Amino acid sequence: KKKIAVMTSGGDSPGMSGAVRAVIRQTIASGCVAYAVYEGYQGLVDGGEMIKQMQWEDVRGWLSEGGTLIGTARCMDFHERAGRLKAANNMIEKGIDALVICGGDGSLTGADRFRSEWPSLVEELVATGKRREEEVKPFKHLNIVGLVGSIDNDLSSTDATIGCYSSLDRICNAIDTIDSTAFSHQRAFVIEVMGRHCGWLALMAGVSCGADFVFIPENPPSENWEDEMCSVIKKHRELGKRKTTVIVAEGAHDQELHPISPSRVKDLLSKRVGLDTRVTTLGHVQRGGPPAAYDRMLATLQGVEAVKAVLEATPETPSPVICIVENKIVRKNLMEAVKLTKQVAADIESKNFKKAMEGRDAEFSE
Ligand code: F6P
Repeated sequence: KKKIAVMTSGGDSPGMSGAVRAVIRQTIASGCVAYAVYEGYQGLVDGGEMIKQMQWEDVRGWLSEGGTLIGTARCMDFHERAGRLKAANNMIEKGIDALVICGGDGSLTGADRFRSEWPSLVEELVATGKRREEEVKPFKHLNIVGLVGSIDNDLSSTDATIGCYSSLDRICNAIDTIDSTAFSHQRAFVIEVMGRHCGWLALMAGVSCGADFVFIPENPPSENWEDEMCSVIKKHRELGKRKTTVIVAEGAHDQELHPISPSRVKDLLSKRVGLDTRVTTLGHVQRGGPPAAYDRMLATLQGVEAVKAVLEATPETPSPVICIVENKIVRKNLMEAVKLTKQVAADIESKNFKKAMEGRDAEFSE
């Protein structure tokens, strides 16, 4: 029977537990044996109890759970070949040669590297006497499938990453809450949202909550943004608005890549527009908690597809990543998706903002 393991890695996101549930149940439903690797790559390196066989009922109720119930970690050991060698040995010991990983682009890149290195790792295990030639015979090839779990929605090639809509929901609820107190006091609020180098959460929260101004990394404001923002806010107030909402993505910066901090925006609103202004950093409330319906659905459909991809893979198939494009669950080339994502970061770095915007997904760059 084929043995398939599932693992979560990098920052957690709502829906990851649902993805693990889907992979485990589809694996069992396909007549294979399911394993969960606990605590991300660290579990793979440590082996033993950290790589656990899972039954259908072990994941009961996981669909509505936040975070990842099998844990995640940022693992330094896996960055070293010695750590990956241990990981390969642990997998062979359990008889596993297929791994579904739910994580961000960094975690997925690590997985693809593990796959390409696999034959030489196996060779080394035999050469150093850790494994016998006959033992490794069925494990000549490692199968990797990626699922993208991240609240940031920062992976190119997919319309949504598992967790981004739950986070967006949480942000909108928080802004609605803030709105009522802002309205009462006629105050301005500068709200910092997560997203690392990606402005999707900030931009979509701005659209969904009717923000007055939004700062995102891919499309920094004009050189005279301070005047521009103040005049927009003044105009909105003249039109009768009692509250002001400015959303700042945590990675926001100006055209020269100098960070735009919420406190700087607050000072402008207080001093130049004369508004009683507060800053709210939403922090990890954006990342924890139960997944929204969309993420439960995405995690389930993509988890099922990941197992199908494992079962259909050949040694020649490049590692796939499971995506959603125009409401269809599709397989894409994992390393191509990572490359496109890295290109956006490079475009921002080299101040080619137009290209950075185009590099993000269609609905974002329109
Ligand atoms: O990638 C998810 C994310 O929540 C980002 O939005 C944020 O920049 C980062 O992780 C925070 O990381 P940590 O939880 O390690 O502080």
